[in-house]
Amino acid sequence: MAYNLLQGKKGIIFGALDEKSIAWKVAQRAREEGAEFVLTNAPLAMRMGEIKKLAEECQAQIIPADATSVEDLTNLFTQSQEILGGKIDFVLHSIGMSPNIRKGKSYGDLNYEWFQKTLDVSALSFHKVMHVAEKLDAMNEWGSILALSYIAAQRVFPDYTDMAQAKAMLESIARSYGQRFAKLKKVRVNTISQSPTKTTAGTGVGGFDAFYDYADKMSPLGNASAEDCANYCLTLFSDLTRMVTMQNLLHDGGFSSVGISEEIVAQMSK
Ligand SMILES: NC(=O)c1ccc[n+]([C@@H]2O[C@H](COP(=O)([O-])OP(=O)(O)OC[C@H]3O[C@@H](n4cnc5c(N)ncnc54)[C@H](O)[C@@H]3O)[C@@H](O)[C@H]2O)c1
Repeated sequence: MAYNLLQGKKGIIFGALDEKSIAWKVAQRAREEGAEFVLTNAPLAMRMGEIKKLAEECQAQIIPADATSVEDLTNLFTQSQEILGGKIDFVLHSIGMSPNIRKGKSYGDLNYEWFQKTLDVSALSFHKVMHVAEKLDAMNEWGSILALSYIAAQRVFPDYTDMAQAKAMLESIARSYGQRFAKLKKVRVNTISQSPTKTTAGTGVGGFDAFYDYADKMSPLGNASAEDCANYCLTLFSDLTRMVTMQNLLHDGGFSSVGISEEIVAQMSK
């Protein structure tokens, strides 16, 4: 159901790779709610061509940008304002990548150059996005900037390796830049900490199926889907949440508040 929550709002959505991507669902729902936006992803991801389908469906233009490149981001924010005919109301940072996870490195055997790449792509890029938006004065007052996080920022999930540090940094950047952007332009900055979700980035983590099922059994509401996450993102882009900022918002079906569940007890008692 659509509520016209984003009527007249202009945005930039990073990270729609394929139909499973959380950003893909956000784009579809944002369009239904009346938003206009530009889609962006790393030039490498463009080659897969999937994003063109989404762009057609959402009547959106695509601007390639490597989120670690200030130059690419400057071009993205400049062009987006031209295409959309004004400043930006919302930004979704839905980006994560760890070469160490891709190559199956254990936490005790990390490649440090790759570690820095993980931090650059998955966390520092969020700072760069906001830095460029600030320098170009590209955000409208009462705008909303959002990134996606995971509870491994607070608790240990061994196979998440260096992405745990990236998410901790991402959430910290949301707080620090959130204070700055609120003072400058009344722009709010938050992270949503999402349940495990069956996407390309998610399923790339070792043992994903096991911790997906575990989280589902631990969460009284079950795992939050990508569609549910998209709905939550929309509320944070809408005018209904103007005073929410500098928060890490748990969107996890209750997982983070549970010590143990009856389902897990039953399974352990077998
Ligand atoms: N899937 C999960 O279980 C889960 C849970 C919590 C949080 N998240 C977070 O959600 C976000 C979106 O991931 P997803 O699960 O939809 O997976 P996904 O693989 O569909 O999306 C990740 C995106 O990051 C993009 N990307 C990688 N390097 C980039 C770069 N240099 N510049 C620009 N874009 C780049 C990829 O092209 C891809 O579109 C990530 O931050 C992820 O960590 C995912």
